[in-house]
Amino acid sequence: MTRTTTILTLFLAAFALPGSLWSAELRSPDGEIAFAVDVDGKGTPRYSVTYRGETVIEDSRLGMRFEEQHGFDSGLRISATREDENDTAWEQPWGERKSVVDRHNELLVGFESRERPTRRFDLRIRVFDDGVGFRYEVPKQPGYSKVNIVDELTEFHLPAEATAWWIPGRRFNRYEYLYNTTGLEEIGMAHTPMTLRLPSGTHLSIHEAALVDYAAFVLDQRRPNVFQANLTPWSDGIRVKAETPFKSSWRTIQIAPDAKGLLNSSLILNLNEPNALGDVSWVEPGKYVGIWWGMHLGVNTWGSGPKHGATTEETKRYIDFAAKYGFDGVLVEGWNIGWDGDWYSNGDVFSFTEAYPDFDLEEITDYAADKGVRLIGHHETSGAVTNYERQMSQAYELYESLGVRKVKTGYVADAGGIKRVDENGVAHYEWHDGQFNVNHHLRALKEAAEHKISLNPHEPIKDTGLRRTYPNWLSREGARGQEYNAWGEPPNPPEHTAILPYTRMLSGPMDFTPGIFDLTFKGEDSPFRVKTTLAKQLALYVVIYSPIQMAADLPENYEERLDAFQFIVDVPTDWEESIALAGEVGDFVVMTRKERDGDDWYLGALTDEEERELSLPLSFLDSGTTYTAEIYRDGDDAHWHDDPYDLVIEQREFSRDDVLDLRLAAGGGAAIRFTTE
Ligand code: NOJ
Ligand code: CA
Repeated sequence: MTRTTTILTLFLAAFALPGSLWSAELRSPDGEIAFAVDVDGKGTPRYSVTYRGETVIEDSRLGMRFEEQHGFDSGLRISATREDENDTAWEQPWGERKSVVDRHNELLVGFESRERPTRRFDLRIRVFDDGVGFRYEVPKQPGYSKVNIVDELTEFHLPAEATAWWIPGRRFNRYEYLYNTTGLEEIGMAHTPMTLRLPSGTHLSIHEAALVDYAAFVLDQRRPNVFQANLTPWSDGIRVKAETPFKSSWRTIQIAPDAKGLLNSSLILNLNEPNALGDVSWVEPGKYVGIWWGMHLGVNTWGSGPKHGATTEETKRYIDFAAKYGFDGVLVEGWNIGWDGDWYSNGDVFSFTEAYPDFDLEEITDYAADKGVRLIGHHETSGAVTNYERQMSQAYELYESLGVRKVKTGYVADAGGIKRVDENGVAHYEWHDGQFNVNHHLRALKEAAEHKISLNPHEPIKDTGLRRTYPNWLSREGARGQEYNAWGEPPNPPEHTAILPYTRMLSGPMDFTPGIFDLTFKGEDSPFRVKTTLAKQLALYVVIYSPIQMAADLPENYEERLDAFQFIVDVPTDWEESIALAGEVGDFVVMTRKERDGDDWYLGALTDEEERELSLPLSFLDSGTTYTAEIYRDGDDAHWHDDPYDLVIEQREFSRDDVLDLRLAAGGGAAIRFTTE
């Protein structure tokens, strides 16, 4: 059902405008959030946001500046406003929920210069019950056909007493940092999503949606508590190279009364455009195993030689394992020419069509097809994007001809090390989140779609919800994942996965690669270990959403714990509904999800280094049904360090009127399947 009303209000320049007409306000459908916009005495556009009467964004600047033209920074007035409203629902082909409700009020505010020649832009604002989005829309106009944006002036003036969860922006390791929990004063530049808690308990997350042909921004604290949307520049210093008409991505502020409220928001998806690919039945969620963890442990190598992981024989062993336990994909890394030597600084020598001699692509894909399994392709670019773009089309074509439907890509290079070679053969080095690489990802995605291939980039651009428009953007990395537990110094601490759901995961799916069973692979005393209990590894399949989930450990480690492995075999990756039941940022989280096209519910709960007792009402379960709960929980002695393997597997009956009491060990968790079978 769509309800649309349009009110056009024109404020004519000839009139002396009374103060109130210089401003406009828009409320959320439930009236709790108010977005106010106005211009100050210098004609600078500004905005502020309140939630339940509390100021969550104080008076903050809007606008942008250009290299050659007058900026949209002062001397402006509001020339027109137009209101709209929407109350619709749309369906995701795959996702954390099938049906998404998009209920918002919209205000389009036109700004124009007081002097002639007139320069103008619009600010489109949408206010939902779970937050706000606003973006710049710059129309075609004399003198502004091509513009180079040198600065975006958007500010987020935050309440001084906020606590923030953040990772640093514009630093070498892209998004792969441990989260900081601090007051605002500690933050220089931070990536988004950045999450905040106000003393009132209100939670905010600042991010962006629908980042297309624009630069990403980091939050840059320019004055105390005032964060500017600092657009990532090109190598020549320009932030965005645009031609009018153009739009910025949406600047978003998710707002919730508590931490779990952030997890139940669909704001980012709602601010993206509908599916542009049409029939996407070839996009397949699923579970996979792969020749991967062995390289991170140093047992195998990506490059050729005696420890080469990607051999025909080894791949067949993984295919057999996948087929036996119902996994639909086998990822193989290190299969193609280019890995020998210092692969992370040698991206230009990668071939994406030539395999090493001990990896017989056709024999492998024929063997996989016979077993109902597909090879998952791998393209590590080491950030040499031009080298990849030259080969992309043939590489996807080759994979398509071999029945490959999913490709993991990789951009291992320091931030600022994306290699772009221009028409004259000159190399330039760009940021992972600058306009060039934003556009590269979309080029790859569209090209892949031509070949019915879905992508899973690692070292990616951050997620801004484009999976709605391009459903073949299945997953991505973009945070410290499991691999850091193999070699990270330090490995991920227990609180890491109790922060991710409230930060990185608000942007979209993550290929975290859960399911390590041999948690102490280098011995009990080594600092290199997985700092969780076994039960918590299972919980990650429900907590950290991705439509493709890896069982990341070596097959032999699963064969030794088939009792626990059963949960990974059972858990789906595509959901009818997802509900966050409880949690606090950095402490714990409880997620529950209902499988798509089925009756079973799944629950994942995990905690930081503190042990916890939870009482969880099961009112999410369907009424009139008794479920058998298959519970995988921490045993009495379980502790991420002292006894990570103490796991209890038990069955109990529940219905929606029951309350589940659950104890999570320090660094522990629980995974539950509620089944009607
Ligand atoms: C980094 C990725 O995150 C990891 O999964 C992959 O194995 C290596 N790059 C090699 O491509
Ligand atoms: Ca990585």
